[in-house]
Amino acid sequence: MSSERVLIFDTTLRDGEQSPGASLSISEKLEIAQQLAKMRVDVIEAGFPVSSPAQFEATRLCAENVVGPVICGLARASEKDIEAAGKALQAAERRRIHTFIATSPIHMKHKLRKKPDEVLKMAVEAVKMAAAFTSDVEFSPEDACRSEMPFLYEILTAVIAAGATTLNIPDTVGYVLPYEYGRIIAQLKENVKGIERAVISTHCHNDLGMAAANSLAGVRNGARQIECTINGLGERAGNAAMEEVVMAMHTRADFFGEVTTGIKTTEIYRTSQLVSQLTGFVIQPNKAIVGSNAFAHESGIHVDGILKERKTYEIMTPETIGLSGSRMVLGRHSGRHGFADRCKSLGYNLSKEQVDIAYDKFLQIADKKKEVFDEDIAAIITDEVRTVDSVYTLDYLQVACGTGTLPTASVKIRTAEGVVQAAACGDGPVDAAYEAIRQATGLCPKIENYAIRALTGGKEALGEATVRVRGEKRTFIGRGASTDIIEASAKAYVDAINRMVTTENNETGETRVEL
Ligand code: KIV
Ligand code: ZN
Repeated sequence: MSSERVLIFDTTLRDGEQSPGASLSISEKLEIAQQLAKMRVDVIEAGFPVSSPAQFEATRLCAENVVGPVICGLARASEKDIEAAGKALQAAERRRIHTFIATSPIHMKHKLRKKPDEVLKMAVEAVKMAAAFTSDVEFSPEDACRSEMPFLYEILTAVIAAGATTLNIPDTVGYVLPYEYGRIIAQLKENVKGIERAVISTHCHNDLGMAAANSLAGVRNGARQIECTINGLGERAGNAAMEEVVMAMHTRADFFGEVTTGIKTTEIYRTSQLVSQLTGFVIQPNKAIVGSNAFAHESGIHVDGILKERKTYEIMTPETIGLSGSRMVLGRHSGRHGFADRCKSLGYNLSKEQVDIAYDKFLQIADKKKEVFDEDIAAIITDEVRTVDSVYTLDYLQVACGTGTLPTASVKIRTAEGVVQAAACGDGPVDAAYEAIRQATGLCPKIENYAIRALTGGKEALGEATVRVRGEKRTFIGRGASTDIIEASAKAYVDAINRMVTTENNETGETRVEL
């Protein structure tokens, strides 16, 4: 039986990064792209180069450094966008330009203010322009699922003739149901001239929770590329989650037959953790495939069944996604070598200096809590090694609080110019620490969300704080971990401020183009 491949097109770095608050630095994007390559994704959409200098640079760096997958850049149907994408992708071994224009009556009338024949002309010109940079050109009729089918047939026939090799069918607003999405793909296969020369692609948003189901319905009806993101990140309710579509096809091979993906499934968990740590988006415990409860069994009947035969309540094994059954625990007597080995097996490629920094912090934590778990190590690395370029560093924090006392905090914040000290009172210890940080930095980004959770069980668990702040143009998420939750909270706020300052500095001088 010859197998037929469904290409996995990852758009975590482009559509995923459009999640409110999910700002990634350029080096973080490169790190995620390298991990996606290790996972053997077929195409990485690295960014939207014209939209900001940082997006251009991230796409360019991925093109230059990531080996294996095709590297793709997004462009609207305009000369400026396509030139920027072509330029950013120049160094890629294999490159793709993905150009798009809206085709639904509602988008053409209100957003583009253009007639269908003008839109068709722009689409054809864009594809021809893109084809001058690369033979691998993808076209998306944005809001395809609310477009009129005869117009879709016409525009897709025309772009194939102009050189498009992949036709992506976005359900931009996550509106359709699986049966409808499958039928759209089937109808396109029947009615678009030349479609046999192109790859049909799915691009489903999750507004009704249908993104993975719709993508799979597309595959059942002839699509051979799925656009998706790690952990289902993306605009509003997100995009189809890669781990869900891949594991559905893997687990239900009986249903999909010879149609398979090339994903190395044992890298799924690691990639999911990396994206969660770098974006600051915590994975809900009951998230399919990668949530912390996805393989946990609580009820007596289930546990009993699992012990007798795993298949009673487990349709896939944790090992398939790279989760080992046993939890390795380190302690204060674990040497540097053992610690470095553990970091490596968790998927972190750290330099000797980075291991040294992380190991020092590990020893401090191991002094406070007897057992250090994988989750703790991940937090240490995010906190100590993977910090964004820090404009501000929290050097010192002291908080006084208690019944009948006005909570007071004093901080020392280090910058390139020196150390600034500030003290403040607040409603509680975290509020006081945040006020002192605002005074020391002279910045007061509004806090939109604040959460604290224990990374592992037990009273000595590391606390991880996540804070979302509003910058001038967008929101930013910061994280901090410590055995002291006030310190974790202060670190998270400083991290969010650093992300805001570095991103907004990168984006000054250019208007960030929103889709
Ligand atoms: O959802 C969408 O329509 C998009 C396009 C740019 C492909 O992300
Ligand atoms: Zn999208």
